[in-house]
Amino acid sequence: MSLVIPILLGTAREGRQSEKAARFVLEHMQAREGIETLLIDPRDFLGSAQTKAMPTEAAKRWSQTMARADGLVIVTPEYNHGYPGELKLMLDQLYSEYAQKAVAICGVSEGWTGGVRVVKQLVGIVHTLKMYPIRNALYFPNVGTLFDAEGQITDDRYVEMTQTMLDELVWLAEALKQKRES
Ligand SMILES: Cc1cc2nc3c(=O)[nH]c(=O)nc-3n(C[C@H](O)[C@H](O)[C@H](O)COP(=O)(O)O)c2cc1C
Repeated sequence: MSLVIPILLGTAREGRQSEKAARFVLEHMQAREGIETLLIDPRDFLGSAQTKAMPTEAAKRWSQTMARADGLVIVTPEYNHGYPGELKLMLDQLYSEYAQKAVAICGVSEGWTGGVRVVKQLVGIVHTLKMYPIRNALYFPNVGTLFDAEGQITDDRYVEMTQTMLDELVWLAEALKQKRES
């Protein structure tokens, strides 16, 4: 079965480090058979920082992307124990497009927590959007040293952890797709 699962990056901050984590997950998803993915960068969508004020063309593009998606991966930094405003603007833009779809959440931080608080917070948010969060999450702590200057990960254990997360995501996304289409 072929699945469409975009990756949504949570921040548009200049100098953001979490883009490295998002690109790491992207590489693994692209290497995996049966997944069509792309990186959704809030910078390409948010024309003005107001709820539901996305420019029409961008709103349509984001809506179409999620409407044809079977799941979503969110890679986000934690800002003051919460999630970034850009991620909120992106998520709040849509509603029905998310329903009955699987979602994996990955946290990023400069310190040792790996964004665990934002990941747990987002479980409740995506639940409200009628999405089904998987249990496995990826945490990218110490992001400044976890990736080298070329953006390559320096800890090999992430390869297996990413596969484990994607196995669970694909399993749930396939089951939900079958149910939606039945
Ligand atoms: C406004 C702001 C708030 C932050 N709050 C937290 C926080 O609550 N917990 C944490 O672990 N790191 C926090 N950080 C640091 C991030 O972990 C750090 O910036 C990291 O590189 C990931 O975010 P980035 O993609 O914006 O670079 C914060 C950073 C910013 C800019």
